Amino acid sequence: MKNILVTGGAGFIGSNFVHLMLGKYDDINIIVFDKLTYAGNQDNLIPVEKNPRYHFYQGDICHPDEVDRVMQRFEIDTIVNFAAETHVDRSLMEPGGFIQTDVYGTYVLLEAAKKYGIERYHQISTDEVYGAVLEGRSKETDQLHTRSPYSAAKAGGDLMCLAYYTSFNMPITITRGSNNIGPYQYPEKAVPLFVTNAIDNKPLPLYGDGLQMRDYQYVQDHCEGIDVVLRKGQPGEIYNLGTGVETTNLEMTHAILRLLNKPESLIQPITDRPGHDRRYALDCSKVQALGWRSAHNFEQAIEATVKWYVDNEWWWRKIKSGDRYQEYYQKQYAGREINK
Ligand code: NAD
Ligand code: DAU
Repeated sequence: MKNILVTGGAGFIGSNFVHLMLGKYDDINIIVFDKLTYAGNQDNLIPVEKNPRYHFYQGDICHPDEVDRVMQRFEIDTIVNFAAETHVDRSLMEPGGFIQTDVYGTYVLLEAAKKYGIERYHQISTDEVYGAVLEGRSKETDQLHTRSPYSAAKAGGDLMCLAYYTSFNMPITITRGSNNIGPYQYPEKAVPLFVTNAIDNKPLPLYGDGLQMRDYQYVQDHCEGIDVVLRKGQPGEIYNLGTGVETTNLEMTHAILRLLNKPESLIQPITDRPGHDRRYALDCSKVQALGWRSAHNFEQAIEATVKWYVDNEWWWRKIKSGDRYQEYYQKQYAGREINK
């Protein structure tokens, strides 16, 4: 592993992964390949922009010629694919882009990986492919029960990776992570949205009864887990990555308000997300056997996250004040309030 192509490296988790890897190893080069969609943001990469082992290339994983050019130019030996359309609510409004990037884009990258015979192709996937798990925990061998266009598209990408492993004997691994929180998360996702709205004394739009459960993990822990699987994971294998502890959205919301010393009257119940998965829960024993475990529990993760948004208003105010964000917010939330 010397020249690592990090697709989607200008997004939330990808940029945290770039920071981690350049800080941890001095014998690797990182090439970020990113389309810079609404979610891609070069501000996320400011901490590494002067590092001579970091390179940025703007491109689309759905364009084979652009992918080929970067593979050749930087003699890529490893691909870590974070590039995706990632927001469930947007997938309900406009699913086409999810199928394009999350399925077709994965195929384009796999073809490039095959052509250049690279050392490792790693696919970043999600616990959402297992669907709602009302009891017990999902193991990597469980059947997939996707319920949103987003999760169906991610599952399509996973299945394509497994097909390339089986058909072409390629060194492919997959990780399925739970909900990440931490620095540089686009403020459409629940945690950064609630934190930044609360700072401004604006309502926190909580879906339904707020009793849905998620395993909120700190993004740096997730990135450490990906690195462990890159180095120790077996080709053809899938590894779940999470804390193994779930929190309700109501508990998450209360924690944010408590940390910011804001009133609970800011909570605004709104109509639920269609097909909203009630609970995700991962069995992470397989990756734990490789020596990984998340370092932050929920309380530590949410505290560090809230602190980051309080300390970095310059980052999120720029996004939230833009027309593109405001139009989305209006389209997504207007008229959904439920009387308290
Ligand atoms: P994000 O939305 O913050 O970032 C996605 C990045 O991909 C952006 O920089 C965007 O510009 C880029 N991108 C989108 N389409 C592209 C294309 N066609 N070509 C090149 N670049 C493109 O996403 P995130 O939350 O950082 O998620 C990263 C990955 O992790 C995704 O694959 C997602 O499914 C997965 N995941 C996310 C979470 C989570 O909680 N956020 C949890 C588990 C797995
Ligand atoms: O589980 C991993 C997944 O986590 C990733 O694969 C996705 O890319 C990522 O977006 C995330 O999906 P979720 O749908 O779980 O995250 P989101 O932040 O959108 O929502 C978290 C929970 O909060 C969920 O139960 C829905 C709820 N919610 C969300 C929003 C945006 C609200 O109650 N109000 C909101 O406004």
